[in-house]
Amino acid sequence: MLADHLKNRISENGPLSFSEFVESCLYDSNDGFYTKEGKAGRRGDFLTSPEVGPLFGFLLANWLDEIWKNLNKPENFQVIEVGAGSGTLARAIIDAKPKCLENGIYTMVEISQKLREAQPISDKLISSPKIPEHPFVGAVIANELLDNLPFDLLEGDGECWKEVHVGLADDEFVEILMGESEEKVKVSPLKGSRVPIQSQANEWVGSILENITKGSLLVIDYGSTTQEMSQRDQDSWLRTFRKHSRGEKPLNDVGNQDITVEVAIDQLPEGAFVSTQEDFLKNQGIDDLVEEGRQTWKEFSSVGDLKAVKARSRATEAEALLDPMGLGAFFVLEWHIPSSI
Ligand SMILES: C[S@@+](CC[C@H](N)C(=O)[O-])C[C@H]1O[C@@H](n2cnc3c(N)ncnc32)[C@H](O)[C@@H]1O
Repeated sequence: MLADHLKNRISENGPLSFSEFVESCLYDSNDGFYTKEGKAGRRGDFLTSPEVGPLFGFLLANWLDEIWKNLNKPENFQVIEVGAGSGTLARAIIDAKPKCLENGIYTMVEISQKLREAQPISDKLISSPKIPEHPFVGAVIANELLDNLPFDLLEGDGECWKEVHVGLADDEFVEILMGESEEKVKVSPLKGSRVPIQSQANEWVGSILENITKGSLLVIDYGSTTQEMSQRDQDSWLRTFRKHSRGEKPLNDVGNQDITVEVAIDQLPEGAFVSTQEDFLKNQGIDDLVEEGRQTWKEFSSVGDLKAVKARSRATEAEALLDPMGLGAFFVLEWHIPSSI
């Protein structure tokens, strides 16, 4: 069992950093949450924008074509989606038939073998556990990936930031306050305040940008800033989920719940164009698509065929995707190479 395995590691080597603990809880090769069964979707653990319906993928297909046109329509355009889950977004994008993929390839990168096995595969759509390591022309998409990358935790003691590790007391996991952190945090270490340190998210963005010869990286996620999180209760930015409900405390029920953190935008590499999902989708023409759907429903509702029903559902999908208290408030970060595209 994962809990026993982690307890043995701690007994032998001392407390684990918070990122080591999260890494095991989510991605342990036998018992991690995502290795076993964790997934997005109505029948899964949480609802993401691609799982709301096909409209999100349709709009991302428009964005991909815009990038491709701005690059003068390269033949070998690659689309790489990281944290692709069971391929719901990929399916919606392929169904939207973007021009950029007429000669290009879409790669779904997903760490969980179980989710990879559920992905749709075709001559245009390939699946991989890893990001291609060679430079490429194209676009990388990551929806709700960065919040799931392992992160560390610091606590202020009034003078400096100290690392929060995970140790054992009476055979239970407990937080242990370690020595002063070497991280350069530009926020005052007020006594008792907490901040996440998202080095893996920073490195991930950096490594993608190094490999894009020409093209863009699109990251969509719930986000905040280190400063803002330091002023809020940790439970409001470090959350656990299971079967569409909040889970237990992060140190409990290891491997059986998702552990996520709001993405500290200020900890990511500079140069991104930042907007909200609401503004981004409006720029991609969501309002026109909803209106078009309404007209189609009016014309064909008496027939009641699939086309009419799909057209009508655009309005409810758009409402969820634009909700200013929910998905609409997510941050959208776009890095473009060169920055003029
Ligand atoms: C919150 S889910 C989001 C799934 C999907 N993008 C969506 O929006 O519905 C995060 C996904 O990222 C995957 N993941 C986490 N770290 C990864 C990595 N380094 N490479 C590829 N996939 C990863 C997880 O296994 C999980 O399927």
